[in-house]
Amino acid sequence: MSSLEGKHIVLGISGGIAAYKSVTLLRLLRKAGAEVQVVITPHGKEFITPVTLSSLSGKPVVSEFFTANTGEWHSHVDLGLWADALVIAPATASTLAKMAHGVADNMLITTYLSAKAQVFAAPAMDLDMFAHPTTQRNLRQLREDGVIIIEPASGELASGLTGKGRMEEPEGIFAVLEAYFSTDKPLKGKKILITAGPTYENLDPVRFIGNYSSGKMGFALASQAAKAGAEVTIVAGPVEQPTPSGAVRRIDVTGAREMLAACESVFADADAAIFCAAVADYRPAECCDVKIKRESREEMTLRLTRNPDIAATLSGHKRDGQITVGFALETDHEMENACAKAARKNLDWIVLNSLRDPEAGFRKDTNKVTVIEAATGAGHPFEAKPKEEVARDILKTVFRL
Ligand code: C5P
Repeated sequence: MSSLEGKHIVLGISGGIAAYKSVTLLRLLRKAGAEVQVVITPHGKEFITPVTLSSLSGKPVVSEFFTANTGEWHSHVDLGLWADALVIAPATASTLAKMAHGVADNMLITTYLSAKAQVFAAPAMDLDMFAHPTTQRNLRQLREDGVIIIEPASGELASGLTGKGRMEEPEGIFAVLEAYFSTDKPLKGKKILITAGPTYENLDPVRFIGNYSSGKMGFALASQAAKAGAEVTIVAGPVEQPTPSGAVRRIDVTGAREMLAACESVFADADAAIFCAAVADYRPAECCDVKIKRESREEMTLRLTRNPDIAATLSGHKRDGQITVGFALETDHEMENACAKAARKNLDWIVLNSLRDPEAGFRKDTNKVTVIEAATGAGHPFEAKPKEEVARDILKTVFRL
């Protein structure tokens, strides 16, 4: 049985091309046994007809404050109280802005302001609109207000451009809702920061120093933590990984200093941080504004300067109860070195993977780890497995699930 069986879902639809995907979402919700009340904005009706939506939901679609011919008032307060969840998909830039500022000029926003239940919003817009500081500011505000933002994916957009702004697929939104209502969520209420991928340290506008980290392990941790009910922020270096569905917020960064700044902004509010990124230890002492010329030189010396240690910096000022986890890739005296590293960086746990192991390491889909508790030095060894399963083992051990 689906966790959505019998749940009251208000499905808010605003005016974006992605509104056609809301029909699939509505069908998935109904099939799972949820009762769905559609609230559509005036612009939403230009993209999809209320007749389709009312036939599929089995309820008249609400859009106006009053029914035109009878003058019957639609109570957004009642709707707000009826809902077990309010899902706004697609959430356009305009709807997000109205939500963030309480501009209650349509039924969807009045319902949002009256809702006592958890609100989810799935943004959908062009890449430039999504990246605009205004939209990003509104999204930050909404997150602060407790709205779970279902991140858009990168891909082809209605405009023909390609980038981030494409609404999460209906199946992904459905999975987020199903996970939300599932009772099997041992990490519910926990906020977890995860770093992932490599960092690129720029030499000039076209060259960098980097490494082969794929980000797979960090993204697997983010995906599994979200599935277990956590609210995840993943701070990712340059990687090709898709953002996992669920309550996962992604901050993309390039260099180590940028990664540290992004982590600093999230860490204070986090219950735990898992430092999975392969951060470059050094960066070029100078970054040239223009492309460095080869000219006639046979040799070239690069001067490097130390990068901040993100794990050590943040763990250095963790508060009581905050858990930090690091990774160690060792080639010799593995347990000893890993424990020393955990102590040096003030980590509570350290995940050891050995380069000697053919099933562990960069770009692989499998990993073989030992999860070590810093306080006792006790190691929990695991078999080689796919990174998604390794992620589950790590979370189970660290959070004692
Ligand atoms: O010292 P080492 O690089 O082996 O430490 C690995 C651990 O420290 C990993 O958890 C990694 O994410 C973290 N780290 C970091 N910032 C650095 C270097 C490593 O957060 N500059």
